[in-house]
Amino acid sequence: MRRDEARARIAALRAEIARHRRLYYEKDAPEISDAQYDRLERELAALERAHPDLAAPDSPTATVGGAAAGAFRPVPHPAPLLSLDNTFDEQELREWHARLVRVLGRESLEFVCELKLDGLSVALTYRSGAFVQGATRGDGRVGEDVTANLRTVRDIPRVLRGAPPLLVVRGEVYLAVKAFAELNARREEEGLSVFANPRNAAAGSLRQLDPEVTAGRPLACFCYQLLASEGYAASDQGRVLDDLAAWGFATDPRRVRCAGIEEVLDYCRAWTARRHELPYDADGVVVKLASTALQEQAGSTAKSPRWAVAFKFPAEQARTTVEAIEIQVGRTGALTPVARLAPVKVGGVTVTSASLHNEEELRRKDIREGDSVLVERAGGVIPHVVGVDLSGRPAAARPFRFPERCPACGGPVHRPEGEAILRCANRSCKAQIKEGLRHFASRDALDVAGLGRVLVDQLVEKNLVSSLPDLYGLDGETLAALERMGAKSAQNLLAQLDASRAKPWEKVLYALGVRQVGSETAKALARKFSSARALARADAEALQSVEGVGPKVAQEVAAFFAVPENQALVEALAAAGLQMEGAAAPSGGALDGLSAVLTGTLATLTRAEAQARLEALGARVAGSVSKKTAFVVAGEAAGSKLDKARELGVTVLDEAALLRLFAGDLSVLGR
Ligand code: IVH
Repeated sequence: MRRDEARARIAALRAEIARHRRLYYEKDAPEISDAQYDRLERELAALERAHPDLAAPDSPTATVGGAAAGAFRPVPHPAPLLSLDNTFDEQELREWHARLVRVLGRESLEFVCELKLDGLSVALTYRSGAFVQGATRGDGRVGEDVTANLRTVRDIPRVLRGAPPLLVVRGEVYLAVKAFAELNARREEEGLSVFANPRNAAAGSLRQLDPEVTAGRPLACFCYQLLASEGYAASDQGRVLDDLAAWGFATDPRRVRCAGIEEVLDYCRAWTARRHELPYDADGVVVKLASTALQEQAGSTAKSPRWAVAFKFPAEQARTTVEAIEIQVGRTGALTPVARLAPVKVGGVTVTSASLHNEEELRRKDIREGDSVLVERAGGVIPHVVGVDLSGRPAAARPFRFPERCPACGGPVHRPEGEAILRCANRSCKAQIKEGLRHFASRDALDVAGLGRVLVDQLVEKNLVSSLPDLYGLDGETLAALERMGAKSAQNLLAQLDASRAKPWEKVLYALGVRQVGSETAKALARKFSSARALARADAEALQSVEGVGPKVAQEVAAFFAVPENQALVEALAAAGLQMEGAAAPSGGALDGLSAVLTGTLATLTRAEAQARLEALGARVAGSVSKKTAFVVAGEAAGSKLDKARELGVTVLDEAALLRLFAGDLSVLGR
């Protein structure tokens, strides 16, 4: 690959990986499987190795994913909660072992193998044997305080037996497969949305603002590592696990001690074959050097220890046939190809369709009707086609031709300039109306759970609803007469629609489905513009003064409000009682809405602490200085960011000023 191509691909991969990390860690709503994600990271790592000058300290290959989401108090961890490097086959695991042998200068090494639970990491602090604090991993350095919620987890002891005076223990909170199935069945019965997989359910349950809700979810927790301690000297990972169990923690009973890499490989093979027998989701095996002294000698990078590694189970794949390729029409008219597959079991679940993403992907993989393909599924995300087995291609198979008219409404399709995606241009296309309704009712929007797929289809097909405001004109009798409905579901739906009238303006804005405006952007826009009217009046400059809003988003927002039909839509929704206004400046932190940048070293605080405290006051801490930066904190040896701040005339605080700010003195910002 040429250098400029590599540079472009690296930038694209970094953006893509950052997006998927946000979806996974902050939204609990991944769009791709772990295997697909791992492939992106590996491609990036390979490119950075081939072009070392293009590597960057803030690249995802050098950082741990996940930032604390803000609803809970930030807590700095006593030691970073590191991530693990992955190996994907026996060869890679052997290479990891060989490197360790070289680094440590010893032939025979002992390991402890544990299953790699697919849950989420927590740090649990015990003083004098009592549980005093529990935090999520966050970005590995600063997590979120979820103590109240963790107190409801049965496996997490409130009091330990015979433990040393201080312990900070790392563990994994998870939901057992059976508990997950029961939880989802219950939710379905109650007309609530179901969780995609146990990990998302566990993450969602732990981040509940009401511990009562968490208590209703049967979360479990295995502990496996010491992050800090006083009065205890760890000598060996196997010993640590035994001691954790003796003090009262739940530990994984399937751990084993292995003398040498061959025994490690046996363990990995055995659990690859038997993973479905486990009562919880595991995505691999964690191999840890047993001796703590040798662990220290091997050391860690900023991201992961050298003394431990994950062996990832291969993604679950199966071979099947593409029976047809269909085009789905999305909310914004985007045409997405979908493969209808001959039903096939993949990892215990029957798969009948797979997204082909877009025309370019379809062409690149050259997937045709009748093809024999390999499909992959993991972690509850939409299955995808890995590749085609050309040897099985029927002679008559022809490349798929994208339609020239919308398959849902017959209207013309067009490709907007600079886009890869074909779109249906007809605003009254029923497929678009249906998707628009589904988005409007989705969990992050107005959360009208009773408005399910079948009901939306009926409402639109029977011409009962042709735009969002029509929902608020529905009556109980009409609804009760529809298929699979009845008086009770009709009343439930009406009650949920009524409740949507109380949803805040930021949710309404997201629910409108303006292109490029996701839930975070909607929140930021709603903070700055306190009403639909104010937002509609905003010019490009005002829009772009909002964090996260660039020219593209600004253009879409302006374009949306310029269309008379959309103005009428907003008016009609307001008349139906939806909140088109909110509080301008949100309550709470003194630094709400301000963007800060940290540079250089502080004498009394680590960067993570400074960041956590700024965020606790409502500021956003960004990585680079721009016109939108409210102030820059410059410590010792501050570099180019300070220069940039001076150049742009941005306020610069030294450490003393920062401490005054923390003490509540806003005058340092000229306020
Ligand atoms: S050890 C420095 N052990 O896997 C030690 N991690 O991909 C790093 N995980 O973030 C972690 N089970 O959330 C370890 N038995 C286990 C684990 C485990 C699950 C998770 C953990 C970590 C992720 C790394």
